[in-house]
Amino acid sequence: MKTVLITGGSGLFGRYVVRVLGDRYRVIVLDKKQPGNTVEYQHGDVLDLTAMVEFTRGVDAIVHLAAIPIPLDHPADEVVRLNVMGTFNMLEAAARNNVRSFIFASSESTLGFAFAERKNHPDYVPVDEEHPPRPQDPYGMSKVLSEEMCKSYTRRYGMQTICLRMPWIWVPEPEEQEFYRELIDEYPKWYKNLWAYVHGLDAADAFALALDREYREEHRAWFITADENWTGIESLKLVREFFPDTVIYNNRLPGAASLIANNKAKTELGFRPKHTVYDVFSTVSSK
Ligand SMILES: NC(=O)c1ccc[n+]([C@@H]2O[C@H](COP(=O)([O-])OP(=O)(O)OC[C@H]3O[C@@H](n4cnc5c(N)ncnc54)[C@H](O)[C@@H]3O)[C@@H](O)[C@H]2O)c1
Repeated sequence: MKTVLITGGSGLFGRYVVRVLGDRYRVIVLDKKQPGNTVEYQHGDVLDLTAMVEFTRGVDAIVHLAAIPIPLDHPADEVVRLNVMGTFNMLEAAARNNVRSFIFASSESTLGFAFAERKNHPDYVPVDEEHPPRPQDPYGMSKVLSEEMCKSYTRRYGMQTICLRMPWIWVPEPEEQEFYRELIDEYPKWYKNLWAYVHGLDAADAFALALDREYREEHRAWFITADENWTGIESLKLVREFFPDTVIYNNRLPGAASLIANNKAKTELGFRPKHTVYDVFSTVSSK
């Protein structure tokens, strides 16, 4: 059985990844915080390269989640230090121990829309992997830089690096449901997010698919989104109202289709989102 080290596995999303991967792999969570479940646990700080080299010895794959997941309540230098140096240390530790598979929790924030302070509308929708990344904020910037580092480690060591660019991960945790309901009521405020989301279990499935993929010397990046936007409103209507200067590919935006496309992940990774926003309001919990 393959051993997979998951950094940040005690976090909100990490718990879902542990749950999905735990059935198929020997999973070790590496985190500064104890996980709330019985998974094998290694206390550690991804900013400590020496320790990371020690903890990645004998591991088959690394899933790197540990990061500050939102730039709003942290100083920019903290976000960049943890998110960029954390990724660098894990890649470097992987290389020194000849770990061949590295799966990175990237973000739609690479595009730069969600946290933009100055106008940054998509050039076209549905946005796909060809759209230029234009982050203004430290978080989006840290994810772009991390993806570049992944690319570089593939080039230098032949390591398989896969970057899964997720939008807002919605989880079916009872304590989050009220917040999601408020978001839906106030959807105009959230236009910068393009109303894109993915259910936690579907996003975790994408990590399982990435780990199951046969080894190739490759660097890949895919958007991992739900099929539909989280408002339930027709996407063409949303775009016409909020992004009047954006080009619409009409035939690719039926109904409430997501403004960030997951077609490439479907075709190349076999990704199939099985949950909708309605499932988020069921009470299945990762704990
Ligand atoms: N939550 C989302 O909507 C979302 C969307 C897209 C991408 N992501 C990415 O997914 C990943 C997980 O996000 P999350 O929402 O679960 O975040 P989270 O804050 O809930 O979890 C992050 C985990 O990393 C750990 N961690 C922080 N600093 C560490 C360090 N120095 N050493 C070791 N562990 C450390 C924390 O203890 C925590 O358990 C992040 O990389 C985030 O950028 C999240």
